[in-house]
Amino acid sequence: MARIDYDDVTAASFRTAREIPRNGLGAWEEAVRRHLDPARGMTVVDIGAGTGAFATAFCDWFAVKVVAVEPSEAMRALISRRGDIEVLAGHAACLPLPDAGADAAWLSTVTHHVPDLAAAAHEIRRVLRPGAPVLIRNAFAGRYERLRIVRWFPETARLLDTYPSVEETCEAFATAGFTPAALEPVPQTDVAGLAELLRRLDTLRTADTLMRGLTEEEFARGRERLRSAVRGGRVPEGADLTSSLDLLVLR
Ligand SMILES: C[S@@+](CC[C@H](N)C(=O)[O-])C[C@H]1O[C@@H](n2cnc3c(N)ncnc32)[C@H](O)[C@@H]1O
Repeated sequence: MARIDYDDVTAASFRTAREIPRNGLGAWEEAVRRHLDPARGMTVVDIGAGTGAFATAFCDWFAVKVVAVEPSEAMRALISRRGDIEVLAGHAACLPLPDAGADAAWLSTVTHHVPDLAAAAHEIRRVLRPGAPVLIRNAFAGRYERLRIVRWFPETARLLDTYPSVEETCEAFATAGFTPAALEPVPQTDVAGLAELLRRLDTLRTADTLMRGLTEEEFARGRERLRSAVRGGRVPEGADLTSSLDLLVLR
């Protein structure tokens, strides 16, 4: 079970509020290229592919083939149908793929939804060819200093601390023979300004696991913080628009 229900409403909100425009993902394209070392036609398994934002980006950036595995029917329905993306129902611990057929695995903001990370790691080991990398893009417990959402809604840190930490993730993957190869924060820009962020808050709350974990009062306080910053026409120190998630690579 995921932490939230990715039904039709959540899937539509995710598309509107959580998909990052391509021009805000330049640092991710560069970081993934470095660790994936992509070759035309290689197969990347996108596990928990969601609405397919990264599946399409990987195909466009790297000319790879993507197998997008996603448990939610509503999310799967929004993935672009194109020749270089195969869309399949499944989840991290049950991948509908043959042994050793894939050249890399990509999990973007998924690990905190996976109930048994070690079981997922074994299943990922099974479908990857030896030496192939697992690239994990996520927020991890204890590492929130670069997360914009925590700056405006500090109580999101409480829920973030229930996510797997880097150490727990590495331990789970170690049980399947993976060792950590890299860990780096990678910035992304998803909004043009604070006013846009303020406008999007309600949709974001539907689509974001951390925002959903806030009480009404905590949400209202964060909205007020943002509102006064927008009214004042200034961005408080440290509250720049860029946010970073971590890229953890294992092999
Ligand atoms: C926050 S969304 C991320 C979607 C996409 N990876 C992205 O970054 O745009 C999390 C996704 O993980 C999926 N999910 C939940 N539990 C999962 C599991 N056990 N295995 C794989 N995916 C899962 C959800 O259905 C949802 O689409």
